[in-house]
Amino acid sequence: MNDPTKSNLLDLAAIESQLTTRYLGRGKNELHETIASTNSRALELAKASVPSGTMVLARQQTAGRGRLGRSWVSPLDSGIYASFVLRPPRNLVAIERITLYTLAAGVACAKAIGSCLFLPIGLKWVNDLVIDGKKVGGILAEMPSLSVKGAMDDLAADELAIVLGIGINICFDPNEVPAELKDKLDWLQAHTELPVDKNKLLALCAKSIEECCDSIEQAKDQQLLSEWKQYSVTLGKQIRAVSGDTSIEGQAEDITDSGALVVRKSDGHKTILYAGEISIRQSDGNYA
Ligand code: BTN
Repeated sequence: MNDPTKSNLLDLAAIESQLTTRYLGRGKNELHETIASTNSRALELAKASVPSGTMVLARQQTAGRGRLGRSWVSPLDSGIYASFVLRPPRNLVAIERITLYTLAAGVACAKAIGSCLFLPIGLKWVNDLVIDGKKVGGILAEMPSLSVKGAMDDLAADELAIVLGIGINICFDPNEVPAELKDKLDWLQAHTELPVDKNKLLALCAKSIEECCDSIEQAKDQQLLSEWKQYSVTLGKQIRAVSGDTSIEGQAEDITDSGALVVRKSDGHKTILYAGEISIRQSDGNYA
């Protein structure tokens, strides 16, 4: 495929000049040509008390990390690999509400992609960005306190630290896609004739993420949850969740105030999924 995005490289000056945020993307930003993982680097920076909003970007990740311990395929100049350090004040965000940041980032990226490229983007619980059932992006939210021993020592007592990692597939060479992901992974440029400008899209994502984070900090949780539901491709569907040897099937009914998935099983009982991955039943009866 003709690839207009490879010539459109991630460029800090181009991103920063298009930012319309108050603080997101306006910290001690870094752009790496190659890095193991932008989230790992942002976790280190969070420990070193960089300003809230600091952004770590990479043109390529050699050990990109996904949810559930998976790796994130991150070839050179094929996607947006970005991590933001956030420091929400504890008096505005109780620790029980921290899971909302994952939802916020998912909604924000869906909005930014939809508004920039007019694509029918959806959110598969909890935060897979999907088009036509295939994954084009994902969010990995982490806290240094949970991942790095002693990480909170340097932090002000009145702040939390969160790293929001965003992976958006822009344009892949099909040969770069591992065989086991061929049916599952996709990229934005495959769905539009418009050239996808990584720098513009990233600046829009930053604005949208900041607005969604503002919603959390202004206790507008219901607004955020209702926006998530508008993008959901999961609610109302028959789903299967597998965890170890246990498998649950049922109708995805709702999400709770913290973003957990409410599933109605065929025996009528409700169960709540707090984490993990689900498959959605397709019209042929298979789960994908
Ligand atoms: C998922 O599994 O859906 C989450 C994927 C998150 C990938 C991004 S790419 C930038 C950041 N750095 C990482 O190592 N992971 C996240």
